[in-house]
Amino acid sequence: MTNSSATEPDNTRAAPPPSLLTDAAFRLLVEAVEDYAIFLLDANGHVATWNNGARRIKGYDAGEIVGRHFSVFYPPDDIAAGKPQHTLATAARAGRVEDEGWRIRKDGSRFWANVVITALHDEQGNPIGFAKVTRDMTDRLRLAELQHARELSAHVQTALENERASIARELHDDLGQQLAALKMQVSLLDTTPQNARFAQQALTQIDTIIGSLRRIAAGLRPPVLDDLGLFAAIDWLVCDYRRRYDLTIHLDIEGDEAGIDTTASTSLFRLVQEALTNVVRHARASEVRIAIVRASSRCTLTIEDDGCGADIRRGRAAGTFGLLGMGERVRQLGGAIEFRSAPGAGFRIAVDIPLKGVADDDPTASPVP
Ligand SMILES: Nc1ncnc2c1ncn2[C@@H]1O[C@H](COP(=O)(O)OP(=O)(O)OP(=O)(O)O)[C@@H](O)[C@H]1O
Ligand SMILES: [Mg+2]
Repeated sequence: MTNSSATEPDNTRAAPPPSLLTDAAFRLLVEAVEDYAIFLLDANGHVATWNNGARRIKGYDAGEIVGRHFSVFYPPDDIAAGKPQHTLATAARAGRVEDEGWRIRKDGSRFWANVVITALHDEQGNPIGFAKVTRDMTDRLRLAELQHARELSAHVQTALENERASIARELHDDLGQQLAALKMQVSLLDTTPQNARFAQQALTQIDTIIGSLRRIAAGLRPPVLDDLGLFAAIDWLVCDYRRRYDLTIHLDIEGDEAGIDTTASTSLFRLVQEALTNVVRHARASEVRIAIVRASSRCTLTIEDDGCGADIRRGRAAGTFGLLGMGERVRQLGGAIEFRSAPGAGFRIAVDIPLKGVADDDPTASPVP
């Protein structure tokens, strides 16, 4: 048995107490609003009232601003273009105007504002002024700008990778084939014993050019990345760095490449490449350890060296993009990256990315290395 009268909501609408309907109460309500600047302008655009939100957003106390023309809130170029007057005229004609743009605070700083101006009329329909509601949208604008910049950066990264791949292909398929044909022609030349030495020199030179071409094309995009996959390409890269810089690099790979798509494998390859370049350029390290684990639906990559390290709390120096680019690549994959270093304590980069289309078969797997 239920006691319905005790639990049912009371749907009857209570009339507001008469005291809440007074002008004074309404004014108090408007004055108390913090998130919106709500104020009145007279018919010529002079500020007539001021609320808490207006003080918070624009920085003026009521005594400093009431009586001044509202154009003081606009940037100089808008004032020069007659925007304040034009906006009021539009509001008077259309009844209401909404606008977004930069506005100026008392201290001269700018904020991105959403502004609604509504024309007010007395009971006879004569214009008496305007109600103006302003909202500070700077945070939202910054977020939108950040999102836009990130989309642009993703686009640029992809375009750059495509361009590199296409240049590498052209070098290999076009120049490479032409040089191979030239080599064949030179070797078929019917040479006198005197010319044989020159022919041999030409063949050696062509071989050197083919070698350089291969190295340049591989630097742009190693064919092994497309032919044999990510892990073989990283192995190739590591061997190349060992050979060229006489560096001890331990490479440890666990798991297979399931779920690591083209974008992820290009990004992981570039991460290792940039990290190794940094080791060579900055670390003065004797050993580097690279570990890649593809387990469950995640792939983790750690690269650490025993070099001089850096004070990464000081933030990014102007003109350096390597670590920034790494962060961008990982973010685009929906993953996380952590840099850990201090002067004298080596440099460690830990990356964790989720993989698409792979079942999460190990619920105990730790996502962060
Ligand atoms: N393995 C490392 N050991 C010591 N310091 C490092 C290491 N990796 C990076 N750093 C420090 O971090 C800074 C930023 O690295 P980042 O790769 O962003 O820029 P960069 O290598 O100087 O220039 P680039 O934009 O050409 O990559 C470096 O200038 C260096 O001081
Ligand atoms: Mg770098």
